[in-house]
Amino acid sequence: SENIRRAITALQNGEMILLFDLEGREAETDFTIPAMAVKPSDVRWMRKDAGGLICVALDPDASEELGLPLMADIIREANQQNISLGKVVEKGGDLKYDSRSSFSIWVNHRDTRTGIPDNDRALTINKLGEVVDKTLNGEEIHFGSEFRTPGHVATLRAAKGLVHERMGQTELSITLAKIAGITPAMVVCEMLDDDTGRALEKDDAKQYGIDNDIVFVEGEEVVEAYEIWLRSQ
Ligand code: 5RP
Ligand code: CA
Repeated sequence: SENIRRAITALQNGEMILLFDLEGREAETDFTIPAMAVKPSDVRWMRKDAGGLICVALDPDASEELGLPLMADIIREANQQNISLGKVVEKGGDLKYDSRSSFSIWVNHRDTRTGIPDNDRALTINKLGEVVDKTLNGEEIHFGSEFRTPGHVATLRAAKGLVHERMGQTELSITLAKIAGITPAMVVCEMLDDDTGRALEKDDAKQYGIDNDIVFVEGEEVVEAYEIWLRSQ
């Protein structure tokens, strides 16, 4: 659709888009921008206007290559060793809207100090984009020499089958990156409502897009565009 084309162009230009997942899932809208393009001012914009958690979704193959497992798997594994976190991770049914979370580890780039200021988070985010790019280009990266954990940027590991497997903004944003031909490392941050404290209503998110000239796309449109793109590959 024309809308998706606008979104793809925006992402290719390193610009923000608004990404809604699905009615019946979270039904939330995330600010979404390529990791490599993020500036400190974008981090400020996300925390002030979106207000959710600033995370970086990562390509599944790059995540595997970099050795970034799902946090839930790390905790399950720890429970079998000598760390007992008990039932904080259940086999399934922990989330009210999906079968599992996409969270991997929280990181800071080693050149940051505390990790939280806008410039620190922007650096961590840019470097995450860079390691994904290098990894997918066959370079060998030692993740631990670049980043430390715990840190202040959450990484999200996209499911192998992307939107065929999971319809979170993690997979939706990485799918859009693939279609756009940009590095599949994408920053997402939920839009919250300053008055109610709840997730911003879809119509209000759309209105924000109109007022600020930012394209708003929905999960279903992304899936449709992905099918067309796959056929053209
Ligand atoms: C991290 C989250 C958000 O919902 C984010 O949009 C990514 O998660 P998902 O792929 O499950 O939608 O949990 O703030
Ligand atoms: Ca989400």
